Amino acid sequence: MEQTNKKRIFSAIQPSGVITLGNYLGALRNWVSFQEEYECIYALADLHTITVRQEPAALRKNTMEAYALLLACGVDLDKSLFFIQSHVHQHAELAWILNCYTQFGELSRMTQFKDKSLKHADNINAGLFTYPALMAADILLYGADLVPIGADQKQHLELARDIAIRFNGIYSPTFTVPEGFIPKTGARIMSLADPTKKMSKSDENVNATICLLDRPEDIMRKFKRAVTDSEACVRYAEGKDGINNLMGIYSCVTGKSYEEIEKEFDGRGYGDFKTAVGDAVAAHLAPIQEKFRAYMADKAFMEKSYRESAEKASYIAEKMLAKVKRKIGFVGK
Ligand code: TRP
Repeated sequence: MEQTNKKRIFSAIQPSGVITLGNYLGALRNWVSFQEEYECIYALADLHTITVRQEPAALRKNTMEAYALLLACGVDLDKSLFFIQSHVHQHAELAWILNCYTQFGELSRMTQFKDKSLKHADNINAGLFTYPALMAADILLYGADLVPIGADQKQHLELARDIAIRFNGIYSPTFTVPEGFIPKTGARIMSLADPTKKMSKSDENVNATICLLDRPEDIMRKFKRAVTDSEACVRYAEGKDGINNLMGIYSCVTGKSYEEIEKEFDGRGYGDFKTAVGDAVAAHLAPIQEKFRAYMADKAFMEKSYRESAEKASYIAEKMLAKVKRKIGFVGK
């Protein structure tokens, strides 16, 4: 990655399961467009993923698939770094250090920790608790200026900023204090079965979630079953969560405005509209799925890609880690 005065972005996604249309339209599509304007560093946060118990074969498969799928979506290794977090050991090392600059009280206030503790009551491990310090390490290692995040990560980003400010204050300016940003264009895609809930890969109802690798017929079935309302009028309005969600999805994949959509479906029923949304989504995903299969079939290319990216990332990360160690007072090697 060349040195430029472009602002630097860091973001990561966990390879914890299938990637959904919500992940794609809400975040990953932005990752792709950021590459034009920013210097982007992206990672698969597999160290974060093991805060919840994973079956080894599934973790390996999910990580490889997520890597191939993000390339297929347009993450471009000529423009950006895209690596697997556990390949860059400095993340875990800085996370340990930052743990010592993060307060028990701060971590105790994290709502995601509280939620996940309830959900995984049989495995409330220390990693789940200190997860935000690892996330801070991810960001601070690269001097990222901007961190695109979902609303659910806002509190973690705030904490990363507090840790950076604290460390800089104790020693001297070391870390760039990152700005979080929740991109305006990132649609918040809701569950097809309960449009008041965010679309989630962990939803038990298979019809609630569109996965990027779903077959066209499954995509169509899920849209046909999507929960709507009884008004039978395609218009964007309060209280029409299901239709609003479908309009958001349709608008994202076709580029049509809500007004244009309302006009297109004026006087037509929800059946027609759902079919159109299903067709548009399947057509949008078809080339991505094709590229995904090509990447998955080319293991040598995949390996070369994530290794080279990890090497470049490690070079940047090591410089920051060495600086941090010096400031703390560790004896140099
Ligand atoms: N915790 C984030 C999530 O689950 C993923 C993540 C890990 C991340 N490290 C990050 C996001 C650094 C932004 C920056 O969504």
